[in-house]
Amino acid sequence: MRVLVTGGAGYIGSHVVKTLLRSGYEVTVLDNLVRGHKAVAKVLKEAEFVWGDIADRELVTGILRSRRIDAVMHFAALSLVGESVENPTLYYENNVIKGLMLLDSIREADIAYFIFSSSAAVYGEPLQVPIEEDHVLLPTNPYGATKRAFEEALKWYDSAYGLKYMSLRYFNAVGADPEGDLGEDHRPETHLVPLILQAAMGKREKIIVYGADYPTPDGTCIRDYVHVCDLASAHVLALEALTRGQSSAVYNLGSERGLSVWEIIQAARKVTGRNIPVEIGPRRPGDPAVLVASAKKAKEFLGWKPCFTDIEGIISTAWEWYCRHPEGYDGK
Ligand code: UFG
Repeated sequence: MRVLVTGGAGYIGSHVVKTLLRSGYEVTVLDNLVRGHKAVAKVLKEAEFVWGDIADRELVTGILRSRRIDAVMHFAALSLVGESVENPTLYYENNVIKGLMLLDSIREADIAYFIFSSSAAVYGEPLQVPIEEDHVLLPTNPYGATKRAFEEALKWYDSAYGLKYMSLRYFNAVGADPEGDLGEDHRPETHLVPLILQAAMGKREKIIVYGADYPTPDGTCIRDYVHVCDLASAHVLALEALTRGQSSAVYNLGSERGLSVWEIIQAARKVTGRNIPVEIGPRRPGDPAVLVASAKKAKEFLGWKPCFTDIEGIISTAWEWYCRHPEGYDGK
């Protein structure tokens, strides 16, 4: 099968491309390099890379037809919650308008299968944890709202045009490919684990904990950290399920285990053997106290079995990548 991966030069997309190649798929990546990294193409040599935009109808339909693409996995989107609050237009433009243009190219080229990179941000402040897929969707920021809007569009595209899709709602993606060639490199970096590891490397003076007065055992926020390679394997399973005739569906992808910011810092100290300076700061607006997934549905219906269960093991994959790439992809 031939798969088009949009945003395949980004963090999660690149790990999925590697897993697809390993599983025997032919892969074309489409990435406009606004947030992705050109260096990923040097790592994933068996994939074809096209530098361009998902909203370029001629380019996209051209790729879909000339490569005889069977399925599209869509990662090309903006994903910084804070940025989305400051600039909702940017998020609606990229994540919704351009996404819909991609869907129309897909429809024009008669593509049957679509896998969508969604987020736990669609839920907003949870009413109960662990969060199941039928939990009410009340996003608290434009990023989550754009993911919800796109999921809704998919539902209607399925009923009107028969586009079969899987929408995968990730919780907190962490870690890096254990072979050390692919990793997490956001500019600017806002995510907890990369920031902690930058502090461990001395590239950052300290890590600021956003609030220690939450109603949790140690007062810091609890999240569900899931290894990026486990997310990647779920995408292949989701595509296989669709090709076997499973109906369109939405799945949570998380470890089902909540860890506090403080627990992550302690684990990183153990893994790196470095003293990571910490300062307690104010809460970050919009952060829910606790986000933990129920991933029962993905386990039951996709046969998903996450391999990375131990947080120190997960952080050590990220640490190895930072040690080999202290300047991120740009250093290569
Ligand atoms: N945090 C700190 N200090 C920092 C950075 C983060 O204390 O310098 C805390 C946050 O307050 C939060 C936790 O660490 O409690 C994790 O924060 P991240 O920014 O790494 O991740 P988020 O939970 O905010 O967001 C992630 C993804 C989003 C997605 C969301 C849904 O980055 O794209 O999960 O669960 F929407």
